[in-house]
Amino acid sequence: MAQAVKNIPEIDFEKIRKDFPVLEQEVNGKALVYLDNAASSQMPLQVARRIDDYHRHEHANVHRGIHTLSQKATDAFELTRKKVRDFIHADSENEIVYTTGTTDSINLVANSYGGSVLKEGDEIILSEMEHHANIVPWQMIADRTGANIKIIPVTDSGDLDMNAYKSLLSNRTKIVAVVHVSNALGTVNPVKEITKLAHEQDAVVLIDGAQSIPHQAIDVQDIGCDFFAFSAHKMCGPTGFGILYGKMDLLEQMPPYRGGGDMIDKVSFEETTFNVPPFRFEAGTPPISAGIGLGSAIDYLNGIGMDHIARREEQLVDYAVQELKKIDGLRFIGDSEKRASVCSFIIEGVHATDIGTILDKQGIAVRTGHHCAQPILKRFNVPSTARASFSFYNTEEDVDRLVEGVRYAKSFFE
Ligand code: ALA
Repeated sequence: MAQAVKNIPEIDFEKIRKDFPVLEQEVNGKALVYLDNAASSQMPLQVARRIDDYHRHEHANVHRGIHTLSQKATDAFELTRKKVRDFIHADSENEIVYTTGTTDSINLVANSYGGSVLKEGDEIILSEMEHHANIVPWQMIADRTGANIKIIPVTDSGDLDMNAYKSLLSNRTKIVAVVHVSNALGTVNPVKEITKLAHEQDAVVLIDGAQSIPHQAIDVQDIGCDFFAFSAHKMCGPTGFGILYGKMDLLEQMPPYRGGGDMIDKVSFEETTFNVPPFRFEAGTPPISAGIGLGSAIDYLNGIGMDHIARREEQLVDYAVQELKKIDGLRFIGDSEKRASVCSFIIEGVHATDIGTILDKQGIAVRTGHHCAQPILKRFNVPSTARASFSFYNTEEDVDRLVEGVRYAKSFFE
């Protein structure tokens, strides 16, 4: 039975849900239950309208024109940099590099920082629970430079083995790149401690924040990390836009990653000099409307409050865990006490794809498969899981529909 929506007293999440018209549709004849927020969150009307407004009234190329419209577009686009600075508590907006998403941000650091610093025999530490986006760029740069990759193992509960991490660290460690919240397990990693330990060896730390940024307040100065990467589309913004936060002294040392317009100081056939950060890393015309959309998404999330969002999602995930646990034969893949937004599970004797397909017929959207994190699924000896991932606009009724749908899916195989 659906429980009453236990709203955080000062926030009316039922009203907030109405900002997301996409949730009002039927899928396969049933009211849509959207539980694939870890893949991409939905966009509220306020953000969609801001992007539409930009296209109707403000569009021009940025950083290039003396004309009024170009200046207007530049101001709107650059305002996002200040909003991001405040949102993640960076020291300066010049530490905010615009990218096309988390993957692009990590590739930038691997190629520019890694490519210029790493030497044969140096070590890069990753964890067993990384998304492919935080594995493959490091493998590519390790191949080019002769560096070696070391892996922090994961315990049965889905937590990082911190003792193993400590024993991997040495003066050979140059980079530690670790996910903040695992997209496959939901585990929230102790990134502050990870950073502190890495800094004791003078290694730099990159945190993949793709899954943490939508769910909790982020303070990069408190974490102490050197780089923090995330995407707009997981935090109520548009696809094709993301952020790399980098400490200024590191960004200043880093060579450009891509060449083109905007990232230069002077160009001649004899010699080209480069712009200062963050523009040094932003070649070509950027996704302007998407950048403005991210600024609007930040306003929207701030309007609710990240602490309220974190508490609401915690309620939903706790309720989902409690109810899913009652299903015989269901096993969580990743059952950390420190979990955000994600319930990843398998059912004995039922393929995850079948669970996903039967849920879809009930109008319930979850992701199934390896979640672009094959090594961690191998660690748990499963080829795929079903993953329900929550956002603040989900409800207890959504959880009830999920649990009912999973029981129904299971009944086909009994
Ligand atoms: N990384 C995204 C996910 O976990 C796409 O689904």
